[in-house]
Order: sequence, then C-alpha cells, then structure tokens
Amino acid sequence: MSHIHFDQVSVNFDERHVLQNINLELSERRIGIIGANGGGKSTLIRLINGLGEPSNGRVLVDDMEVSTNARAIRRKVGFVFSDAENQIIMPTVAEDVDFSLRRLKLSKPERQARVDDILERFGLSSHRDASPHTLSGGQKQLLALAAVLVMEPEVIIADEPTTLLDLRNRNKIGAVLAELPQQLIVVTHDLEFLRGFDRVLCLDGGAVVADGTPELAISHYVDLMTKAH
Ligand SMILES: Nc1ncnc2c1ncn2[C@@H]1O[C@H](COP(=O)(O)OP(=O)(O)OP(=O)(O)O)[C@@H](O)[C@H]1O
Ligand SMILES: [Mg+2]
Repeated sequence: MSHIHFDQVSVNFDERHVLQNINLELSERRIGIIGANGGGKSTLIRLINGLGEPSNGRVLVDDMEVSTNARAIRRKVGFVFSDAENQIIMPTVAEDVDFSLRRLKLSKPERQARVDDILERFGLSSHRDASPHTLSGGQKQLLALAAVLVMEPEVIIADEPTTLLDLRNRNKIGAVLAELPQQLIVVTHDLEFLRGFDRVLCLDGGAVVADGTPELAISHYVDLMTKAH
C-alpha cells in the first residue's frame, strides 16, 4: 500500500478556512471519508493527486511531495470525479477508455485487450461505439471508473462513486471496488458502502472529527447530523 501523509495541511479559499491543520498518515487498503456537505471532503482528497494545492503544509505520497511531482503522482494515483460528465473526453465509449492509456507505453493489442476487458467487466461492451454523452447517468459513472481503473493505478480515489447509480449498478461498483487489490480512498454519503472498510474518517468544518472503524466514524457522523444546529 502507498503511504499518504498530510503534514500540517490547511486550505483557504479567500478568507475561508476550508481545511485546518490536517495531520494524517493513510496507509490502509480501504479508507472511507464521510461528513456533512461542505465539510472539506472533496478538497482533502483532491490534494492527494494534485488537483488542488495546500495553502500551508505538504501532502506526500510515498515520500514524494504531490505539488512538485505532478506527473509521477498522476501515474500512481487515479482519481474518479463525482461528476462523470466532466471526465468524458473522446467521441466514443471505447476511445474514451483507450484515451487513458495514451501515456502508458503499451502495444496496440495490449491496449485493445485492456479496453475490451474493462468494458466487459462494467457491462459497457454493447455501448463501445456509442457517444459517452448518450449513456445514462449511472453508465457515465461506470465509464468514469473504467477509464481510471484501466490505467491500473496504485491508489484509487473516488469522490462519491455511487451517487447516481441504481441498486444493481451500485452493487456492481461496490463489488468491483471490493475486489480491487489496490488501495482505495472513497468519499461517500452511502454509509452501507463502508461496511468492512479498514478505516473511516469523518470531516466537519475542515477538520477530522472522527477517525477509526466504520462503526465509530458513522456513529459520530450520525450524532453530528441529528444534533440541533
Ligand atoms: N474552488 C473553490 N473556491 C472557493 N471555495 C471552495 C472551492 N472549493 C470548495 N470550496 C468551499 O470549500 C468548502 C468545502 O468544500 P468541499 O467540496 O471540499 O466539501 P465536501 O465535503 O466535498 O462537500 P459535499 O459533501 O457537498 O461534496 C465549501 O464550503 C466550499 O464552498
Ligand atoms: Mg464533495
């Protein structure tokens, strides 16, 4: 597993403190992040592959500072956006997945085999020549995940990967993610999804307010959400 280190990390947008002095060592295989809307979850995970930068402090992946090793970090850490629409680049489903592989120096048959395999796994084979924009919302989310997994990154970060999915596709994504040998960091409001995770963090107001087993973090979160404000 990779070792992800947040060293006194803060993020400010204008005058607002969105993350405050985060110190974390993340090396478990299954890590969940939960918390109220606006709590800083997306901001936090975006720092891990350089989609955002800390205002103060450093984020390191296996002792490599994210902000100064962008290329190596992007190879190592795959990021699945919550808004799958924004991740679509190419005119067909197959080309969109293939596009992810352009920087890995693979032979053409190997690229094709990887693309075919992942489309099959995600039930997207019959849509391979369709425009990604013609897919349903859930299918787009599956495509976004496929386009990241095809690169076989060491760490996969997913921001709400199941929000648009029906139960079958949610379970499918759940099963695909559960089987992955890689390290996985998932932000989700789907608490059931976190069953069996090694570690869950709850973020609130830009700080980690619970950190431990899924049961511990979820119970803290439920208390937080039911408390009068
Ligand atoms: N680019 C930005 N510019 C200004 N403010 C931002 C920016 N990105 C995020 N914020 C603010 O940072 C705070 C945390 O946002 P973030 O998206 O990290 O929350 P979140 O925990 O992912 O919430 P959600 O559950 O709704 O996805 C919010 O108050 C948001 O308005
Ligand atoms: Mg978010």
